Amino acid sequence: MTILDGKKVSNDIKDEIAAEVKKMQDKGEKVPHLAAIIVGNDGASLTYVGSKVKACERVGFESTLVQMSNTTSEIELLEKIKELNENPEIDGFIVQLPLPKQINEQKVLLAVNPDKDVDGFHPTNFGKMALDMSTFIPATPFGILELLDRYGVETKGKHTVVIGRSHIVGRPMSILMGRKGFPGNSTVTLTHSHTKNITQITSQADIIISALGVPNFLKAEMVKDDVVVIDVGITRVIDESRPRGYKIVGDVDFANVSKKASYITPVPGGVGPMTIAMLLKNTLLAREQHKL
Ligand code: GUN
Repeated sequence: MTILDGKKVSNDIKDEIAAEVKKMQDKGEKVPHLAAIIVGNDGASLTYVGSKVKACERVGFESTLVQMSNTTSEIELLEKIKELNENPEIDGFIVQLPLPKQINEQKVLLAVNPDKDVDGFHPTNFGKMALDMSTFIPATPFGILELLDRYGVETKGKHTVVIGRSHIVGRPMSILMGRKGFPGNSTVTLTHSHTKNITQITSQADIIISALGVPNFLKAEMVKDDVVVIDVGITRVIDESRPRGYKIVGDVDFANVSKKASYITPVPGGVGPMTIAMLLKNTLLAREQHKL
């Protein structure tokens, strides 16, 4: 069994990006600049956005954090997005999800200039991805592809089962694993809350990508020997013994599933750090495209 070490691989990627930034600096060029908008004070979202800003510092990017209150109106947020769209200093930006109820997420995603949409959530970019055109691939699916690639995990002709159909992970992942190329060329089953007999499906899978958000959902009895398991779950579970008062738990019963798996991602230290590294990669791509 091989652990797909997202912490290590993400550090390698950050080193590669830092080397690119160093070259830009040596040539006197502008370095990539990522901005993040966060609306409200959800603890998990603040942590993720904080990690994104810290990662920018680590590779030598400029970063801007825009914090808006929980009572921000849709119009106020759209104005801020317009400002970032028009600011030539900003190469790419993200609007951290989820958003408060008074804001329509679809309107927000549509307002982001696709050339600065380093999350790859705008319909233009999502459509390009589905059509195998060059574009920003959403960071979490992009990170999973990169892990499979760097560990040389065979995907061609395999049966990939994706659990969860979110716009951020499950849906794009199902498209990417089925597309021509590597990683890809697999036969994909997309499962969700209305799927019947899920164990029957997961037990036929060569590769399982779980993005459900239900702790310890995937049990050893649900998988076959030598399965490849990618755990995207990151649920906070109360744990008084930890300094923060909680621990992060994945969708997979790691202790038992890892005994049957050929490759498996841990939580934490698997997909999570890869997401941040790929957001940086998309921002570097955005900077390079803005130079053209
Ligand atoms: N919320 C959870 N994951 C993500 C992500 O990748 N991007 C944004 N913008 N919000 C998120």
